[in-house]
Amino acid sequence: MQKLTIAIAKGRLQNEAIDLFAVAGLSVSSEALASRRLAAEDQSGRCRFIFVKPADVLVYVEHGIADCGIVGRDVLLESEADVLQPLTLRIGACRMVVAAPANVILNTYGMLRVATKYPRVAAEHFGSRGQPVEIIELSGSVEVAPLLGLADCIVDLVETGRTLKENGLRIVELITESTARLVVNRASYQLKAEAIGSLIDSLEKQ
Ligand code: PRP
Repeated sequence: MQKLTIAIAKGRLQNEAIDLFAVAGLSVSSEALASRRLAAEDQSGRCRFIFVKPADVLVYVEHGIADCGIVGRDVLLESEADVLQPLTLRIGACRMVVAAPANVILNTYGMLRVATKYPRVAAEHFGSRGQPVEIIELSGSVEVAPLLGLADCIVDLVETGRTLKENGLRIVELITESTARLVVNRASYQLKAEAIGSLIDSLEKQ
């Protein structure tokens, strides 16, 4: 069967994705996982994994360097990448929310300053109800922004709720739920139909 290159988002999804593939019969040696190498062969030789930043999974898959990848829906919502999404996975469940300081009632009559890693999702969310916002784009650690006076509220992911709680924030509104998706390059889907079909079958069973 044709060999597949699979891009996995580093960070919150990585371990769950590796476990998912291991159950599907594609596993990476513990030595490779413990190393700092960013590409590793699976032990059966059927595929190669590459470990990249979440947004870059879509870049590698869209350009066909990776045939497929695992990425959170949150990343897809921010991107215009032209990739196929044949499968929703059970891993990486989290919520995209608006959160604000626990002791503050948000004044929604004027301009709200919103700090986020998700400028597109945030702009669409507030724009759909005509709320004027200034979007302040950050690369991470967004929860600290309201504490420091950079923003009135944030749009971010919540998994356990611990980061919000420990930074004195509360959920104001749920925007959407997110889980991981299998994404596939359009050409690979045709050219490596057998290998990708069998991968989808084995992931679907989990
Ligand atoms: C994510 C997210 C929140 C946190 C939520 O950040 O952006 O900050 O995890 O998880 P919790 O509800 O379980 O506390 P991530 O760890 O990906 O890093 P970041 O701060 O760089 O965005």
